[in-house]
Amino acid sequence: MLTSLELDPQKLPRHVAIIMDGNGRWAQSRGLMRLMGHKAGVDTVIRTVRAADEIGISVLTLYAFSSENWKRPASEVSGLMTLLKSYLESELASMLENNIRLRCIGRMDKLPREVRETLQASIEKTSINTGLVLNLALSYGSRDEVVGAVKEIAELCVAGKLPVEQITEETISAHLYTAGLPDPDLIVRTGGEFRLSNFLLWQASYAEILVTEVHWPDFTREDFISAIATFQTRQRRFGRTGDQVSDKT
Ligand code: IPE
Ligand code: IPE
Ligand code: MG
Repeated sequence: MLTSLELDPQKLPRHVAIIMDGNGRWAQSRGLMRLMGHKAGVDTVIRTVRAADEIGISVLTLYAFSSENWKRPASEVSGLMTLLKSYLESELASMLENNIRLRCIGRMDKLPREVRETLQASIEKTSINTGLVLNLALSYGSRDEVVGAVKEIAELCVAGKLPVEQITEETISAHLYTAGLPDPDLIVRTGGEFRLSNFLLWQASYAEILVTEVHWPDFTREDFISAIATFQTRQRRFGRTGDQVSDKT
C-alpha cells in the first residue's frame, strides 16, 4: 500500500486543486438517488482534507459547485446546499483543532443566506490559522471570475489610478478570487472526464493535470497519495527543454 512516506517531501505540490466529479454516477450505478452520491462525497472531502494536511500541502482547492451547476434540478441544488451547510458546521471544530484556514472562491453572494452566513463565520473563525488553506470553490466559474477582474482593473484605469501600460500578469492574478494564493501545481479530476469545466482557467496555465476514472465517493487517501506520487514523476519544463530543467545542464 502506498503511504505518504513514499513521497519526496522536497517535491510536494504547494497547491493541489481537485475537480470532485462522479458523485451522480457513483449513486446511479448503485441504484441510489444522485444526492446519496453527494452525501458519500462529503466523506471523501473530510478524508482528503485530512490527508492533504498530514502530507503538508499548503493549499487544497476543492471544486464543490460551479456557476453552471445552478442549472441542475432545484431539488439537487437545495440538497447540495444543505450538505454544504452541515459539512461546514460539523467540520469547524476539526478545522480549528488542525490549524486549517478556510477560504472560498466564487460568487458567495449567490449562495442561500444560511449557507453564506455559516461559510462567512467559518472563514472568520479560522482566519488566524496558519496551516493548510482549504479553499472551497462555490458558485465558482473561471470566466465569471475573469470578467470580474477585468471590470475592477478597467475601473482603476478609468479613475486614473492605474496606467494601462502598467497592467501585467500579476495585476490580473491580483484581481482574481485566488489573489494571494499560488497557482495550482496539480489539478486532479475524478470521474474520468478530460475537461476543466470552467475551473481556474487562468491559474491552471502550468498545472500538471491528472484525470482518474475513480468516482469522487470512491477516491481514497491512497488515490490522493498516488496522484501526488505521479505529479512527482512529471518533468515540469515551463517552456524550456528537458535538458535545461534536468541536472544535465
Ligand atoms: C460532482 O459530481 C459534484 C458536483 C458537480 C456538485 P456530479 O454530480 O457532477 O456527478 P456526475 O458527473 O453526474 O457523475
Ligand atoms: C464540474 O463538474 C464541477 C464540479 C465538480 C463542482 P460537472 O459535473 O459540473 O462538469 P461537467 O458539466 O460534466 O463538465
Ligand atoms: Mg459531473
